[in-house]
Amino acid sequence: MNQKSLLTMRDLSKDEIMNILYEARCFNDSFKDWRISTKKTLLVANLFFEPSTRTHFSFKSAELSLGLSVSDFNPSTSSVIKGESLYDTVKTFESIGYDAVVIRHPEDEYFKQLENINIPILNAGDGCGNHPTQCLLDLLTIYNEFNTFENLNVVIVGDIFHSRVASSNREALLKLGSNVYFSGPEKWKRPGFPHIDFDEAIAFCDVVMMLRIQRERGAEMDDMTDDEYLKRYGLNKARYKKLKENAIILHPAPVNRGVEIDSSLVEAPKSRIFTQMENGVLIRKAVIKRAFGFESFKEEK
Ligand code: CP
Repeated sequence: MNQKSLLTMRDLSKDEIMNILYEARCFNDSFKDWRISTKKTLLVANLFFEPSTRTHFSFKSAELSLGLSVSDFNPSTSSVIKGESLYDTVKTFESIGYDAVVIRHPEDEYFKQLENINIPILNAGDGCGNHPTQCLLDLLTIYNEFNTFENLNVVIVGDIFHSRVASSNREALLKLGSNVYFSGPEKWKRPGFPHIDFDEAIAFCDVVMMLRIQRERGAEMDDMTDDEYLKRYGLNKARYKKLKENAIILHPAPVNRGVEIDSSLVEAPKSRIFTQMENGVLIRKAVIKRAFGFESFKEEK
């Protein structure tokens, strides 16, 4: 496995996380127009085995802005249909001259099959496992707001059980000194993830991260209607009024408006949902730059 791959937040030290956030901020500041300049144009392939809008196209936006040559792989028109394995697919991209791959796949930790791949792999989400670039963009959004992670209170709310966003954020935020709580229906609790009543959390949390119910991974609302879910577990207008003055709302999106969050709150003053998407491009530029081994902007200044 290439050491510059980004697979999980577990693999990054606190310093490495802070350096990626620094690099992402530079991409929004003094290094807006920075491009990769190498004799050979670098090739990157986006291999999305699951649907995606934000992750796929913010990676693509970052790749094109950096001057990379980009290919979008579609499993349904590829030799995957003939039974080709994930390993053979990725090894093929390596063999035909690609310099890095971005992969989203429904299997938890799919990358364990790819130990013998030598080009960098950027994980764009594995099953219910990890979503490191989503986590990094969440961290950038939080850091831009509070300028610290120490002692921040963060509550992650909803379908915790199926959420790779919840697990990556738990891992990273604890490493960075935040307090992390989880809320939502009993049946979506996860062992080792401290549960709290949402109304209790609203009173003291600085960051409220809402999650979508992942029906595609088997999450079911049973007999609960969307309105009932919003009332019991969602961010509705009454809860919004009780948020701390400086609290912010995050959501990895896509949003099920009127289920986990009232539609009118998606762009409310405390919401940073579309800011997260803007930050996603900066973070993906930073992790691509890291994957190709370029020195930190700190050295270039
Ligand atoms: N947040 C996120 O991963 O969105 P997409 O599924 O649209 O990529």
